[in-house]
Amino acid sequence: MFDQLTVREAIAGSYTLVSNSLSLFLNKADARAPLYVFWLMTYRCNSKCLHCNWVVKNMTTEKLNEELVSKERLDVANQLAKSKTFGVTLSGGEPLLVREIFEVIKILKRAGKRVNVCTNGLLLEDNMDKVLKAKPDCITISLDSPNPEIHDKIRGGNGYFEKTISGIDILRKSRQKKNPKIIIKMTISKENIESIEEFLERFRGICEHITFQPVQNNLIHQVPDEGILFDKSEYGLFKRKMDDLMSKYPFMNNSYYKNMADFLFNPDSLLKTGKFRCLLSSAYSVYIDPYGNVKPCLGLASAGNFKESGIIKIWKSRENCRLQQKMRDKGNNCICWAYNNLFNQYLVEAFKILKGK
Ligand SMILES: C[S@@+](CC[C@H](N)C(=O)[O-])C[C@H]1O[C@@H](n2cnc3c(N)ncnc32)[C@H](O)[C@@H]1O
Ligand code: SF4
Repeated sequence: MFDQLTVREAIAGSYTLVSNSLSLFLNKADARAPLYVFWLMTYRCNSKCLHCNWVVKNMTTEKLNEELVSKERLDVANQLAKSKTFGVTLSGGEPLLVREIFEVIKILKRAGKRVNVCTNGLLLEDNMDKVLKAKPDCITISLDSPNPEIHDKIRGGNGYFEKTISGIDILRKSRQKKNPKIIIKMTISKENIESIEEFLERFRGICEHITFQPVQNNLIHQVPDEGILFDKSEYGLFKRKMDDLMSKYPFMNNSYYKNMADFLFNPDSLLKTGKFRCLLSSAYSVYIDPYGNVKPCLGLASAGNFKESGIIKIWKSRENCRLQQKMRDKGNNCICWAYNNLFNQYLVEAFKILKGK
């Protein structure tokens, strides 16, 4: 995602990074823009994953009618294009169900933003020409098992594995100079933990990067059925699996994977040691939900709606600053685990030194 930056992108990104860091350390809300934006374009989806409650909760006709309409989504894109934001992830629900997504990508790309699309891959094949013409920098594709039956069981539909794999194959054949980059992402749960190594061996040759996210039930992600979560008794199995993978695959040898078992089975231990504080999301990124609400964290209240005032005005607002401060407060016992949060652990150290704590 971050390789091959143009000089212009690198300078603009560094400037926003410094401005976000200053606002974090000075506890002020005057950063020029969020470095990164996670935009959930819709909650509509063509899958019904065992681990995902967003779709179950938000796919009623009433809720879908509240989502932004085409013109408003293009307005969001134009506002982001004009801002000093470095990059945007377009996700959902299933973002490829949003008709104007390709126009959105083009607007962002014309403005020099890095664009990542996070998809279940089911509609990739049918939309390949449009995807390639829009030129996103990266496509992150969810794949939950090397075994078609298990993937289909987790994702809630027959033939889903084959459809997603076929999308990846065609993307690989049609793209030029490995653009867009392909990231494959597995959500680890009880259903697939045993097949992680097989997964790596099978798919690492067909993408630029593989990432694993543990199944979570917190303010950001909720599961519809807790049966998909790990039992407390599975700590040893999980920990051994991760240690084994970290010794075999150097790219996994980092604190994100090292602390994953503790995050899942005993998150309090991470909070107590001070190894985790929510610094990254609270200072460097923002979410836009399908209704246009701008939130420092999906699990928190909205700092404002883009229909009422602009995204950057909301980002710089007192309310956004208040919510950000709440997130990084030492008493905040909320913890989530995403690959980006790896940087949290470096930030925690820097924060301690700079604040003299
Ligand atoms: C919400 S989906 C949206 C994009 C697209 N529909 C997809 O599946 O990739 C983004 C990612 O969140 C993951 N996810 C959903 N529910 C989760 C949960 N309870 N815990 C952890 N990850 C979850 C999905 O597996 C997927 O990789
Ligand atoms: S994880 Fe993605 S594909 Fe699965 S139900 Fe949720 S939004 Fe849809």
